[in-house]
Amino acid sequence: MSRIVYVNGSYLPEEEATVSIFDRAFLMADGVYEVTSVLGGKLIDFAGHMARLERSLNALGMNKPEAFDELLDIHRELVTRNDIDEGMIYLQVSRGAAGDRDFVFPDPEVVKPTLVLFTQSKPGLADNPTAKTGIKVISIDDIRWGRRDIKTVQLLYPSMGKMMAKDAGADDAWLVEDGKVTEGTSNNAYIVKDGRIITRELSTDILHGITRAAVLRFAREAQMTVEERSFTVDEAQQADEAFVTSASTFVMPVVALDGAPIGDGTVGPVATRLREIYIEESIKAGV
Ligand code: PDD
Repeated sequence: MSRIVYVNGSYLPEEEATVSIFDRAFLMADGVYEVTSVLGGKLIDFAGHMARLERSLNALGMNKPEAFDELLDIHRELVTRNDIDEGMIYLQVSRGAAGDRDFVFPDPEVVKPTLVLFTQSKPGLADNPTAKTGIKVISIDDIRWGRRDIKTVQLLYPSMGKMMAKDAGADDAWLVEDGKVTEGTSNNAYIVKDGRIITRELSTDILHGITRAAVLRFAREAQMTVEERSFTVDEAQQADEAFVTSASTFVMPVVALDGAPIGDGTVGPVATRLREIYIEESIKAGV
């Protein structure tokens, strides 16, 4: 059975779903997206993802798609129709298809945004064995644009970063600007030193992770100390632990950076505990 996807008001088998070749996401990367995870058939942090979607749309002066108020229903319908127990829902809004290629934005009264959603089933997302062994990262220059707080579909450099990591025998890359780590290619980055959790402060330099917000809240509730500030690669290599967070990996321990083990090179207690709390609390609060 093929996957059922959503395109501009219709639920369709994936082979029948189409978008115009003039769509501005295709021609100009003029689109924004969200990834919401599903655990036990429930949407995790849904309200947070939709709030950030709205912020991304506003930042780019993009209209909300007509179905905006129904986004929860659409997410749920896709979970049901595709029988998703664990996995992700990808949502993308673009500025639409102007029927030509033009750098100038089309008239929003005439050209409607394109709304696409699809599911990715990932059984074992919560019980991911990689969380027990951790991942290895390399550091690379952060040469992305200056509005990383907007979740745009311009993902070429993050993709290149993942390939650089792969070629170096690692799992992912941390991006470094002015000597400080900004974030991972598709996640927020953290270190732990003497029991303190350190992660870069929010600004236009990084994506304001929805998982980040929840994890920091849970950490503070558990009386852990959180420091929101930037850190260097060197500081990370001297840390006791490191980890990343995202909607698709939750809390994922990092055990090496540029070939140097972090701590004793194994998964540490803080990352492990935060992962447990995040998954437990998120399932409880899922919608
Ligand atoms: N990526 N930073 C970047 C650059 C990201 O692309 C992501 C998410 C995050 C974490 O944000 P959140 O916790 O809201 O998922 C941080 C998604 C998962 C992706 O592109 O697949």
